[in-house]
Amino acid sequence: MKSCNVYENNSMKEVLGETLRPGGYSLTEKGVRFCKFKPEDTVLDLGCGMGATVGYLYVRHRIKAVGLDPSEKLIGLAREQYKFADFVIGAGENIPFEKDSFNGVFAECTLSLMEDLEATLKEISRVLKKGGWLVITDVYAKKPGLLKELNGIPFNSCMRSMHDLELLKEQLKELGFCIMLLEDHSDLLRSLMAQIVFSYGSMNAFWSKTTGNCAVSCRFQEILKACKPGYFLMIARKGDAAYE
Ligand SMILES: C[S@@+](CC[C@H](N)C(=O)[O-])C[C@H]1O[C@@H](n2cnc3c(N)ncnc32)[C@H](O)[C@@H]1O
Repeated sequence: MKSCNVYENNSMKEVLGETLRPGGYSLTEKGVRFCKFKPEDTVLDLGCGMGATVGYLYVRHRIKAVGLDPSEKLIGLAREQYKFADFVIGAGENIPFEKDSFNGVFAECTLSLMEDLEATLKEISRVLKKGGWLVITDVYAKKPGLLKELNGIPFNSCMRSMHDLELLKEQLKELGFCIMLLEDHSDLLRSLMAQIVFSYGSMNAFWSKTTGNCAVSCRFQEILKACKPGYFLMIARKGDAAYE
């Protein structure tokens, strides 16, 4: 069954605003500080959506990041709003840049949306320089047992493909990444859910409006709850932890 990109949907923007993720820029800022990014660094914002992080990195830190997203609609909005920046249409599974192009990759609430996570992580590793940083913020299941069933639901919200954190850590280590920081920020997801319930009356009403399918959204909400969703910040470094 074909899935729709819910991030192009107005109800998502109404609730989330310019950043299509929980927590706005708070974890972006933490990532910049932790990795000590400088204006001369080359940075990719993978799954940049409407380009908010690319704008933020330039306005706050003078870092000229490139945004990549498969959605023509979202890239169009990003280009309109942040005329000074480069935005490219493309997918994480096939990143249209040379190897060793970047000092940093941000993947904010986007790896959970990849059709092929393994291929995407390989691509990230390819385009990162040695010692380059990968900053991930995303949703994860504290009880990953029902994730397979959740994955079967046909619409592409990141909540459908929450991470199993143990699996993600293993995949990154196998690719030669070193996990430098891992923090739980589930409070940001809880605040966002409270905001949604305030605006829509219930999570069910929100998913129903977003997917346009009541039966799908009811089942989705049921399994979602059982998986106990959380939110995390993970920062991984390509190569040796001590690399300078
Ligand atoms: C939750 S939104 C986050 C957008 C942005 N990072 C932000 O935080 O505002 C997820 C984004 O991932 C994008 N996306 C979906 N599939 C993708 C893929 N295969 N490669 C790269 N981005 C993808 C969507 O179009 C959407 O813009």
